[in-house]
Amino acid sequence: MSVSISTLHDFKSRREPFAVCTAYDATFAYEASAAGVEVLLVGDSLGMVLQGYDSTLPVTIEEMAYHTRCVSRGNQGALIMADMPFMTYGTLPACLDNAMKLMQAGAHMVKLEGGAWLEESIHSLARQGVPVCAHLGLTPQSVNKLGGYKVQGKTEQQADQVLQDALRLEQAGADIILVECIPTRLGQRLAEKLSVPVIGIGAGHHTDAQVLVIHDLLGLGKGKRPKFVKNFMQGNESIQAALKAYVSAVKTRQFPGEEHSFNL
Ligand code: KIV
Repeated sequence: MSVSISTLHDFKSRREPFAVCTAYDATFAYEASAAGVEVLLVGDSLGMVLQGYDSTLPVTIEEMAYHTRCVSRGNQGALIMADMPFMTYGTLPACLDNAMKLMQAGAHMVKLEGGAWLEESIHSLARQGVPVCAHLGLTPQSVNKLGGYKVQGKTEQQADQVLQDALRLEQAGADIILVECIPTRLGQRLAEKLSVPVIGIGAGHHTDAQVLVIHDLLGLGKGKRPKFVKNFMQGNESIQAALKAYVSAVKTRQFPGEEHSFNL
């Protein structure tokens, strides 16, 4: 069965969480979708985990289109969401042109990072039939402005701002909101107030879905891992078993636990 935007909205109405992870190639796309992951995110995190950069900023639209085509060939019915990379949606013509490249490469929806300033772009994309996910909270493409990869929405005023931005973007036509590194309480408020599904990463267990970078959930790579990551290879003997364990833990709300969340 193929997952569509309406499948994800049905999950939200039934209060059944769905699982999302990144995929950048055909093999991992196959493994993750066969394990029951409902959404494959071709994330610009590929700049860090595949290309070895220390941020997502160097990733180009051509690279995103290439990896989206690879994922599309291995996918077994998941919805494919592709990231629009840094500075490829700053003007409306650029945004529409670059979204077209990702959709023609096999994406079913695009993801953009930012707040209320995205309203016009989201409205235009929606009008032209392109489903959109808006990424709020910690937005890695703005790491230089944010001063590092830090928890966002910590004060009441900041949390209200994230909520207001999310509501405006939903109103503009966003089909999904993704929030990264925010307090659990804010993740809960967003899931309750928005009609569209809210995907969380480091946003607590109340959101409508969870996402992880596939390398993180398989315990691959060097360096210190963020607090919100869990290595599902521990206790599982194969990649397929680890991915199934991730899907099951998301659906039963066993993941994320308190130890993976920001309870500020
Ligand atoms: O690029 C990515 O992998 C992402 C996730 C961290 C949500 O945007």
